[in-house]
Amino acid sequence: MQQLIILVLLVLPAPSLGGDVTCPVATITENTPVGAFPAEGSAVFPANYNCTIQFQIPAGQIVKINVTNNLLFDSPDSFTIQDSALALHRMYIVDDIFYLPATIGKIQITTETNTSSFYFTWQYIDITTFERIQKPTGTILALNLTANTFYQFISSRGGVAFHTSSISGYTDTALAQIYVYDGADLNAKFIGNLKVFTETDSVSKGRSLTLVNFYGASVPSYGIANDYAAISIYDGYFFHVLRSDIDFFTHQWAKKGMESAITFYSIDSQESYITYLNFTNPDETGHEVRVKPMTPMENYTDLLTYNVDDSTDGQVPQQILINTFTVTFYQCDVYLNIISRPSLEWSTVKPGRTGWVYSPSIWNPTENVTTPYYNYFNSTNPVKFVFDIQSVAIEDSGEKLKVEVGSPTSSNFAVVFNTTVTNTGEKAAHGTYMTTNFTGISNASSFAMKFTVENNVETATKSVRRISVFMALFASIIFNFVI
Ligand SMILES: *[C@@H]1O[C@H](CO)[C@@H](O)[C@H](O)[C@H]1NC(C)=O
Ligand SMILES: *[C@@H]1O[C@H](CO)[C@@H](O)[C@H](O)[C@H]1NC(C)=O
Ligand SMILES: *[C@@H]1O[C@H](CO)[C@@H](O)[C@H](O)[C@H]1NC(C)=O
Ligand SMILES: *[C@@H]1O[C@H](CO)[C@@H](O)[C@H](O)[C@H]1NC(C)=O
Ligand SMILES: *[C@@H]1O[C@H](CO)[C@@H](O)[C@H](O)[C@H]1NC(C)=O
Ligand SMILES: *[C@@H]1O[C@H](CO)[C@@H](O)[C@H](O)[C@H]1NC(C)=O
Ligand SMILES: *[C@@H]1O[C@H](CO)[C@@H](O)[C@H](O)[C@H]1NC(C)=O
Ligand SMILES: *[C@@H]1O[C@H](CO)[C@@H](O)[C@H](O)[C@H]1NC(C)=O
Ligand SMILES: *[C@@H]1O[C@H](CO)[C@@H](O)[C@H](O)[C@H]1NC(C)=O
Ligand SMILES: *[C@@H]1O[C@H](CO)[C@@H](O)[C@H](O)[C@H]1NC(C)=O
Ligand SMILES: *[C@@H]1O[C@H](CO)[C@@H](O)[C@H](O)[C@H]1NC(C)=O
Repeated sequence: MQQLIILVLLVLPAPSLGGDVTCPVATITENTPVGAFPAEGSAVFPANYNCTIQFQIPAGQIVKINVTNNLLFDSPDSFTIQDSALALHRMYIVDDIFYLPATIGKIQITTETNTSSFYFTWQYIDITTFERIQKPTGTILALNLTANTFYQFISSRGGVAFHTSSISGYTDTALAQIYVYDGADLNAKFIGNLKVFTETDSVSKGRSLTLVNFYGASVPSYGIANDYAAISIYDGYFFHVLRSDIDFFTHQWAKKGMESAITFYSIDSQESYITYLNFTNPDETGHEVRVKPMTPMENYTDLLTYNVDDSTDGQVPQQILINTFTVTFYQCDVYLNIISRPSLEWSTVKPGRTGWVYSPSIWNPTENVTTPYYNYFNSTNPVKFVFDIQSVAIEDSGEKLKVEVGSPTSSNFAVVFNTTVTNTGEKAAHGTYMTTNFTGISNASSFAMKFTVENNVETATKSVRRISVFMALFASIIFNFVI
């Protein structure tokens, strides 16, 4: 800090002690597109100075302010900029550039001491020639916005809600560099910087919202634009960035009859797991946590539902095979952990464990699956695997789902589906492992299966019958023998 200050002081133009610091009374307009105060350069200001300089800025323009000052953070003197959304920004020795948006800006300089020096220049800049990037609502984007470009979000049904989450997990002060306009372009009304906007209303009044970063520095956050109509159903909506090296933990609640929601976006994994879920009021009924793919905009149905009446102990870890998903909290008070990376615990099972196996195409119907989907559920001791394949969709002939239960010492039990079927019925077999092997990679091929792991109650004499590949058609008949 000390070094920085010395450095900054060295590059400052030498304060001209005799400079005219008389407070300009006239409002500055585009008729003076460039200028400086004090006009002769940096000056030491007298004690008890108090001056407010006003700017009038037409829509479609910004005023670039370049400030030099020697204010330390504990100085009683101040250089404060007010933007047209009435937010105040104090400038210190480390600050220099500030962009004043249309239509009114103010700079106030006040002193108690006679030791502070100030100088600033201004420049009116036309921003109507900036390039436009159009994004639909439902978009998640990195906020390292391209310079000289504005980002326009348009909703077909009312206001646009915008939420952000930093990559670090901490508050991102750089969000203040992104400006929010309530409309389709930079001629619209400035409604605050993104930090202020997301801390307050987060919703445009009109059907479009425009973001721009005049400063050009990268902002280490992500943002999501939603139709306000899609999230206003929630009593609290949040956005959170997941990453493989940081586990997510939250305590969420929603009032009786209400639901809150978090949309998660993993920046570096297509695979996340719920690793902990605990309702704090297990005696109250109706509390639920639900998980669905994508943002609330896509209207997907819930793939996972956790009810307070069910024991949640064995229900985790639960796999989620998509980088964007929304968890909703229905009138509950709950602790939740999510990790975003492969989990060895997902495939390590013991009695009491239960979960859902959904093919990647069910989690993410818009993504083209290119590789077969395989699971190996492994138990230290022999157990009973109970599984219920609720649907198999086979689009291309040759694609198939094979579920196999076995152990290193006994023969295997397998069931294969190569045609589309639903409600295949509950089946069970004993072993130390269960595999699911799905070779369907057409975008309409999928399967959904619920499984539970139970204690091995089979006696040693009842050996597992071997069934190799057979047709789904006969599955229900043949399976009557198991258990
Ligand atoms: C500066 O003057 C304004 C009115 O012009 C007043 O509201 C404000 O309190 C004054 N500030 C200080 C620090 O004296
Ligand atoms: C701000 O002004 C200083 C001199 O007062 C100059 O060196 C610097 O380049 C300017 N910064 C920008 C971004 O224009
Ligand atoms: C600055 O203020 C101090 C007292 O706070 C005074 O002694 C000194 O003469 C002042 N200097 C100038 C240049 O006015
Ligand atoms: C922003 O960051 C993302 C992810 O690191 C990168 O893919 C993208 O090219 C960057 N965009 C800009 C404008 O720098
Ligand atoms: C859930 O939380 C309660 C306290 O609220 C605690 O007693 C219990 O052990 C927790 N259950 C699990 C599975 O962590
Ligand atoms: C979601 O539902 C809303 C209201 O029913 C509808 O306007 C919107 O188009 C739907 N979105 C998608 C992606 O289907
Ligand atoms: C999926 O594949 C289809 C054609 O095979 C292509 O049109 C589409 O863009 C692909 N989608 C993605 C998300 O790659
Ligand atoms: C299954 O578990 C056994 C014993 O814990 C271990 O030796 C084996 O490597 C595991 N197999 C797989 C494929 O994880
Ligand atoms: C399914 O598998 C059976 C047995 O291998 C085979 O006879 C049948 O032709 C297959 N059906 C399809 C659609 O591939
Ligand atoms: C899954 O099944 C396919 C086709 O039968 C086979 O080629 C592949 O080796 C199997 N994958 C595993 C991991 O066993
Ligand atoms: C699968 O892709 C085809 C084109 O490749 C497309 O017409 C169809 O709608 C897609 N189906 C799904 C379920 O996405």
